[in-house]
Amino acid sequence: MATLVQQPLVMACTGWDSYRLLDSGAGRKWESFGPHAFVRPEPQALWQPRHAEWPAAGEFIPGSDEDGGGRWHFMQDLPDNGWPLAWDDVRFTAKPTPFRHLQFFPDMAPVWEWMRGQLDGLSEAETLNLFGYTGLGSLALSRHGKVTHVDASKKSVAQARENAALSAMADRPIRWLVDDAAKFTAREVRRGRRYDGIILDPPKFGRGPDGEVWRLEDHLPGLIGDCARLLDANSRFLFLTVYAVRMSSLAIAGLLQQALGHLPGQIEHGDLAVREDSAKEAGGARLLPTAIFARGSNPG
Ligand SMILES: C[S@@+](CC[C@H](N)C(=O)[O-])C[C@H]1O[C@@H](n2cnc3c(N)ncnc32)[C@H](O)[C@@H]1O
Repeated sequence: MATLVQQPLVMACTGWDSYRLLDSGAGRKWESFGPHAFVRPEPQALWQPRHAEWPAAGEFIPGSDEDGGGRWHFMQDLPDNGWPLAWDDVRFTAKPTPFRHLQFFPDMAPVWEWMRGQLDGLSEAETLNLFGYTGLGSLALSRHGKVTHVDASKKSVAQARENAALSAMADRPIRWLVDDAAKFTAREVRRGRRYDGIILDPPKFGRGPDGEVWRLEDHLPGLIGDCARLLDANSRFLFLTVYAVRMSSLAIAGLLQQALGHLPGQIEHGDLAVREDSAKEAGGARLLPTAIFARGSNPG
């Protein structure tokens, strides 16, 4: 019976060569993505910045509406096709997108590491990455066996395949699927499939390739129910992140508790965060929250 650990956790990204949170405050953050630094809006940086100047190649100026919009202002020329970065053995291309991020989410790094830890000892695991975007999670998982990567965006899946080639992982057994996450998962349930681990990072709102509407509050419970049907007592994990939604990690942990209650293991929850690169400064390193998560794990 999966039991809920009530105390919340923080999974903090501490930064590495290809990504650092240099400073934050006054509603913005200053980050380096390898050789280039950028300034982006960050409503949760309520404190004051530590540095007077934030030299950067570009800044994203948000539009007036809270939910998106805005555009990049570049102070320096950047390579037209982006530039290569790495996390562990995964290589990928970073490039500013109109959606204010750079083709990957660095706060997921501790999640990639945690998932690999859960699969420790397995070399023929089968894992599923729903809403997989540009594939960094799928490439990280592919060390342990077959991966099914699902995303509604043809462009993101093409980018994911390019990242696989850049990582010299093009021959790994990864199924790259342009599909609606909820429809695909329901189909897998009907086919009687099982997985050793599932990760899902759904947006608040999205659309499948045929215009299927994804609205987190409406569709997440059904999708988690279907994910649970793809797991069994030998499966290792289910990892769910939620961002940009007013919701507590206890709420999504409750959803996992309901769906995974019949399986062994435990359910934990908390915040994903990025640790500022300023540990030596007075007051210590600050933690910038980025998302909430709930995870079910079973050591097997
Ligand atoms: C925030 S991204 C996920 C980030 C990714 N997990 C990572 O760490 O790089 C959300 C993704 O969901 C995809 N998406 C939106 N609606 C979808 C749907 N109905 N079915 C499948 N994917 C969808 C988008 O194309 C986008 O790539």
